[in-house]
Amino acid sequence: MRVIALTNQKGGVGKTTTTRNLARAGQQLGRRVLVVDADPQGNLTDALGAEDLPADVAGLADALSSRSAASIADVIVPSIWEGVDLVPAGGDVLENVRDELVVAGAGRESSLRRGLQPVLEQYDIVLIDCRPALDQLTLNALTAADVAAIVTNPDLFSANGIAKLRLTIEAVRDHYNPKLRIGGVIVNHHEAATTLQTRHWLDELAGAGLPLLDPAIPRHTWIGAANAQGVALDELGPHGQAVGEIYAKHLTTLMGEQA
Ligand SMILES: Nc1ncnc2c1ncn2[C@@H]1O[C@H](COP(=O)(O)OP(=O)(O)OP(=O)(O)O)[C@@H](O)[C@H]1O
Ligand SMILES: [Mg+2]
Repeated sequence: MRVIALTNQKGGVGKTTTTRNLARAGQQLGRRVLVVDADPQGNLTDALGAEDLPADVAGLADALSSRSAASIADVIVPSIWEGVDLVPAGGDVLENVRDELVVAGAGRESSLRRGLQPVLEQYDIVLIDCRPALDQLTLNALTAADVAAIVTNPDLFSANGIAKLRLTIEAVRDHYNPKLRIGGVIVNHHEAATTLQTRHWLDELAGAGLPLLDPAIPRHTWIGAANAQGVALDELGPHGQAVGEIYAKHLTTLMGEQA
């Protein structure tokens, strides 16, 4: 069993898309998958929640809030894919829960870890989709995780934030979660015509000792469209299947099942 947190404080780099496609890869490999939406935007909930999921469905917000008696087990729902279960975000309320955690005091970073503990044995893989911020929700995700997977884009602005993210991950490891390791960096939105600058930046990342998961995920409009349409990459013919296989490879690496 592995808990993997998909993270980067930069917005729009592809954390949710990666979480979704890794979940599908896990399902296709016959694993029991739980995805956790730790972002009040609720994008993962929208992408993987069943069509009849009510807008005010209980979720992570309820499971973490001291105002609700709900546990994680109480808020798990089936996703659109059999074998993949979902902890919905719980909407904007998750934002209030973030504030609750800020003032909660000792032990607050471990709330999600404690909450997940009772359900872990029901799954082979737990994927936590983080919000684009290094706040209490993300600290909780990293404290609950065995593996941090950094999702980024091949450009300078994305590169700038990685050093800070790395320090945060290392601080969580030192203070709250000694087993946490950086499983790798997934480069998303990769353009086929790699510029010299992109090359330079990828070399820098590799030079910083961060494990780059090879190959990068290409930028294709249909990868974005598949999100919105609830379609899996493997349902999109050979080109989609080829990208789906990249996610399967990266999942295996993140699980530590392959060097
Ligand atoms: N490889 C890709 N090719 C084309 N479009 C993509 C790709 N990856 C993600 N997208 C699209 O880019 C947008 C941002 O992706 P996504 O929501 O996964 O990023 P995010 O890091 O989760 O964002 P946020 O920080 O807001 O949570 C979405 O519209 C998504 O469909
Ligand atoms: Mg997201």
